[in-house]
Order: sequence, then structure tokens, then C-alpha cells
Amino acid sequence: MSPSPVVPAQPAATFATPTLTSRLPRVGTTIFSVMSALALEHDAVNLGQGYPDFDCDPGLIAAAERAMRAGLNQYPPMPGVPALREAIAAKIEALYGRAYDPGSEITVTAGATQAILSAILAIVHPGDEVIVLEPAYDSYEPGVILAGGTVVHVRLRPGSFEPDFDAIAAALSPRTRAILVNTPHNPSASVWSAEDMRRLAELLRPTGVIVIADEVYEHMVFDGARHESVARHAELAARSFIVSSFGKTYHVTGWKVGYVAAPAALTAEFRKVHQFNVFTVNTPMQHALAAYMADPRPHLELPAFYQRKRDLFRAGLARTRLVPLASAGSYFQCVDYSAVSDASEVDFCQWLTREIGVAAIPLSVFYRDGLEQRLARFCFAKKDETLALALERLARI
Ligand SMILES: Cc1ncc(COP(=O)(O)O)c(C=O)c1O
Repeated sequence: MSPSPVVPAQPAATFATPTLTSRLPRVGTTIFSVMSALALEHDAVNLGQGYPDFDCDPGLIAAAERAMRAGLNQYPPMPGVPALREAIAAKIEALYGRAYDPGSEITVTAGATQAILSAILAIVHPGDEVIVLEPAYDSYEPGVILAGGTVVHVRLRPGSFEPDFDAIAAALSPRTRAILVNTPHNPSASVWSAEDMRRLAELLRPTGVIVIADEVYEHMVFDGARHESVARHAELAARSFIVSSFGKTYHVTGWKVGYVAAPAALTAEFRKVHQFNVFTVNTPMQHALAAYMADPRPHLELPAFYQRKRDLFRAGLARTRLVPLASAGSYFQCVDYSAVSDASEVDFCQWLTREIGVAAIPLSVFYRDGLEQRLARFCFAKKDETLALALERLARI
């Protein structure tokens, strides 16, 4: 019998606990998740979530299926499928009169979110300042912080949510690297005018400030107005990243495909980040979108499609005690609830979800300091019957 092996005594294991210092200490669970969970719990009509509750065109799904069955399932080129970049460039030129080179000036991204973060990471150095206009979409500030930059908040004018150029001028400093502009605007549904763009160009003329233009709602501008893309303005286009999202335009937010158009020098820096961020975006969806874009009607018809929903929703709101603000673009409608309650915006939206059965988003969460204005945001990218049910409930308050 062989002797049993001698197992040396093990010293008591000691494990060091990693010390974590959050890169984003202020970021927690977003109000969007909180309100959606509450809506589910109380079987509320969810007008909080900013995406459609109806499906996309079956033709788009058929195009994606065709691409998958044709074996288009491997990595595409890093900046995106050439046919899609060509279709994007053609659309921008047709709508806004500016030619972007699909080879060196258009990049397909994993939605607008990745485009915005990659653009910020490409240009913002530690210590740089970035102007963010409030109320602001929630991804802007964390992006700037991750890049080591400092956010300088400037409020849009209360009530109208128009840009306040005196306040923007006062916020500019030698350290300002960029300004984020969002039109049509989430959450206020305001849109920039040609005069606003002219004033922005004038203000930035003596500076080296780069514009990151979040134009994801570009095809949702109402009442015959036109979308003032920075692409329309030569001087601004020369210093801008323009970001858009197919998710918003074609009712496929879950596909997460968007793009960035920018002059070659900016695009070159953008792609340095993009290639190590996602490298590239899923192939069959890109082919599907390229084929679908051959017909411009889906995006040309979008303003009328959403304007009808906006009008339907506003007509119903007129029978409630909620006072609608202007909704000039995007698929949002803000309301003033001060005739109903003097609760804080978060409390009001939670009450509305629990007791009335309609979920909305408080405007205060789009401000760094939680500014209270007794305003809530509804999303009307919903089936007519969803809007009708919500309105029936809202009429009770
Ligand atoms: C203003 C704004 N920018 C960017 C995005 C993100 O778009 P995507 O889903 O394409 O990442 C959204 C989505 O709600 C948005 O409202």
C-alpha cells in the first residue's frame, strides 16, 4: 500500500476586496426604469417610455430576413455597410442640401447613444468644458464625465424651451470644447429655428467649439415647419457631428442602429474611438435599412403620421385639467399640472401612475438640480387605442 500523499497545510486564504471608486457616482437607476416598473405593477398605460407600442413596417422585417438568409451575417466594414452609408449621404443631401462623402464622412453606429458617447470621447480631453442645454437627454452628462470633462449647464428658456443665447455666450470659455444641441428636443418638444442656428453660428465663429447635434427626431417636425439640421448651415456643418437614429425614424428602437455625419477630420477622430468601442454594427439590419431607404416615403410621411397622433392626444387633453405646452417636434407632449396638484413632479408622476393608471415622466429629472416647474412629459408614439385609454383615464382627474 502506497503511503497517502502528504497534503501540505494551506495558510488561511485571504482575499483582498477591490476598492471601487465609481466613475459615475451620481448615476443610479433611471426614472425611466422606475416608472416603467411602477406602470407594470399598477397596470398603467405607459406613456412614460419614449418608444412606440406599435410595430414597424413588415417590409423592413422582410428586408432584414432577406439579408440574413442571403448570408450577410459576418462583420461588415468598420464604418458601416457601404450601401447604407451611401443611402444616408443621399438622404442628407436631398433633405438638407449638403453632400457628405460616404467613404470618409458617414459612420454607422449602434444607435444614437453610442454615437454621442463616441463623439464625446473622440474630442473631449480632461479639463475641457462641454455646454449642455437643460433640460437634457440623460446620456450627455455621463459621457462628458467619462471623458474627464466638465459639464457646464445652461438652461433653455423656461416655458418656451428656446435657446437663451446670452446665457450660452456667458457660458463659453477658453476651455469650452463642445456644445450639445438637440432639436427637435427631448423632453420639451421644442425645435430650433433657422434664426437660432444663425445665432449659434455667429456665437461660435471666433471659437474652436465643436457642435454635437443630436437630431434623432429630425423627421418629426410639425405644422409645416422644417427641421433645421446643422447640415443646412455651412459654417455649423464644418464644426459638427450630426447624430441620428433609425430607431426613431422607422419604429425600430430595439435595433439600435444610428449614424454620425461629420467632416472628414472629425470623422477620422470619431472612427478611432468607434473601432474600439463597438468596431461595427450588426450587418443584416444595415443591409435591411439600406434597401428600405431606397423609398423616401417612410421618412417623408413621418411628420404627418406623428402630427395626427399629437393632435389626437392634444384634443383629448383639452378635456382634462392638464394644460398642454406647445409640441413643435419629437413624439413628446409636456403638460402643466399645476391646476391639479402642487405635488413635486416625481410625486405627481408616481401618483398618476398608481391612482389614475397613466405613466408619465417628470421634467425635473432632466435638470441637474431637479428644477420643479409642475411639468410632466407624455410620449404619444402609441397606438390610437392606447392614447384613447390614457385620455379616458386622464379625464377623471
Ligand atoms: C434626444 C435623444 N437622443 C438620443 C437617443 C438615443 O437614441 P438611440 O436609441 O438610437 O440610441 C434618444 C432616445 O430616446 C433621445 O431621445
